[in-house]
Amino acid sequence: MKVEVFETPQDAAKSLAQEVAALIRSRAAEGKNVVLGLATGATPLPFYAELVRMHKEEGLSFANVISFNLDEYSGLDRAHPESYWYFMHQNLFNHIDMKPENINLPSGMVAQEEIPAHCAAYEQKIKDCGGIDLQILGIGRTGHIGFNEPGSDDTTITRQVHLDDLTRSDAAPAFNGIENVPTTAITMGVATIMGAREVALMAWGEKKAAIVKEAIEGPVCIEVAASYLQNHNNAKFLLDKAAAADL
Ligand code: PGA
Repeated sequence: MKVEVFETPQDAAKSLAQEVAALIRSRAAEGKNVVLGLATGATPLPFYAELVRMHKEEGLSFANVISFNLDEYSGLDRAHPESYWYFMHQNLFNHIDMKPENINLPSGMVAQEEIPAHCAAYEQKIKDCGGIDLQILGIGRTGHIGFNEPGSDDTTITRQVHLDDLTRSDAAPAFNGIENVPTTAITMGVATIMGAREVALMAWGEKKAAIVKEAIEGPVCIEVAASYLQNHNNAKFLLDKAAAADL
């Protein structure tokens, strides 16, 4: 697995955004689409900001981009400010020229009995679009990628999961208290993520240093979903100095 360490998150985000822009442009030149797997959270914000800047200042078009987000909280509708639908529109989609019909996120509002079919349809749509070219990831302090908490092995696909207590407490400030944080979510599985042709995981700050070390240098294990990326043939970690401090 490749590990790239940058002075700042902005430097890392710029490097990744340039790579994504090159991929988008080379596919556009061939008249082809590109399928991106996208992530939410604080981590990808400088990356999305750079993509928006490239769209506005350099004319980078997203007209040939199809996206699939990793996950969505159960019970939050699209208008909820903590929903990932809202987050993605606020931070990226509202500022670029993505076609609305090319934007895909799991829905948090599907009736309980319809969730398995909703998840199966999400997996099928990824396949129908030709699979994910590049999956963007953050990492949670539990080692989760998407919401694949400890106990998620590399056979898991899109499904409903319970959120780890640490994940919910990390989200508590945004929800004004842990009691308001959903207890379940729908997430792509580890196998879904491993199916992407390329994976780029970003992590910043000293709070991520310990789990970054486990993911990169620890054993590949069910307790740290990100450790499965060691088995991916085209995965890289983009870190700032603080997140790389324990390596
Ligand atoms: P963060 O979350 O980017 O807000 O740190 C990362 C994650 O939980 O995957």
